[in-house]
Amino acid sequence: MPKNKRNSIEIISIGAEAKIIKNGDLIIKERIKKSYRNEFIDNYLRKFRTRREAKLLYEAKKAGVPVPFIIDLDDDRIVMSYIDGDRLRDIVDRLDKEKRTKIFEEIGRFVARLHLSGIVHGDLTTSNILIKDDKIFFIDFGLGDFTKDIEDIAVDLLLFKKCIRTSHYKYEEEILNAFFKGYCEEYKNCEEVIKRMNEIEKRGRYFKRGENN
Ligand SMILES: Nc1ncnc2c1ncn2[C@@H]1O[C@H](COP(=O)(O)OP(=O)(O)O)[C@@H](O)[C@H]1O
Ligand SMILES: [Mg+2]
Repeated sequence: MPKNKRNSIEIISIGAEAKIIKNGDLIIKERIKKSYRNEFIDNYLRKFRTRREAKLLYEAKKAGVPVPFIIDLDDDRIVMSYIDGDRLRDIVDRLDKEKRTKIFEEIGRFVARLHLSGIVHGDLTTSNILIKDDKIFFIDFGLGDFTKDIEDIAVDLLLFKKCIRTSHYKYEEEILNAFFKGYCEEYKNCEEVIKRMNEIEKRGRYFKRGENN
């Protein structure tokens, strides 16, 4: 059967928090029940996080950052449009230098827009960025939050930096230069945030969003 057959139902991934099902042109992201949690608390948390993720997707779109469209929402499920592209993580090595630089500069500008709109993504990795026809889409705001706190913003950037360092070390310098070039084009006070990011890195310890919220 062709891999991307329309109308086929396919489980794309089962993570710690969510199950991703593809149904034709739709993606259903379902928050998994945690049986070790009290049922009432579990229901509350799944509902809260699902709503928050949907709100973040909506606000990101309003800020001009490309994300999937939300089609439907209930207590533990978001139905969204399927982006028929590649995970950036899987194609970084295949891009030529010029394209790679262009993509990461643009990612920098988009992340700046998120931050300026009071959104931190919470899990900025190249697995959560999809590329379709050279266009960039951000997915997975499951650990995101609404905040303008400089510490939160700096941690968001640090997670991205660490992802590049571990997954794309061959191009680390090139990618980070491009990313921060784009970021600083949009985020005028970027130096302050970058300074904070470096301080947090030196401290060697930071609060990872999502662990306690
Ligand atoms: N809207 C979408 N379009 C295409 N693929 C998606 C979409 N949403 C999720 N996926 C795929 O499912 C994977 C897991 O989804 P994600 O939202 O990142 O959940 P998790 O919290 O488990 O990481 C992604 O890496 C991506 O490959
Ligand atoms: Mg993910």
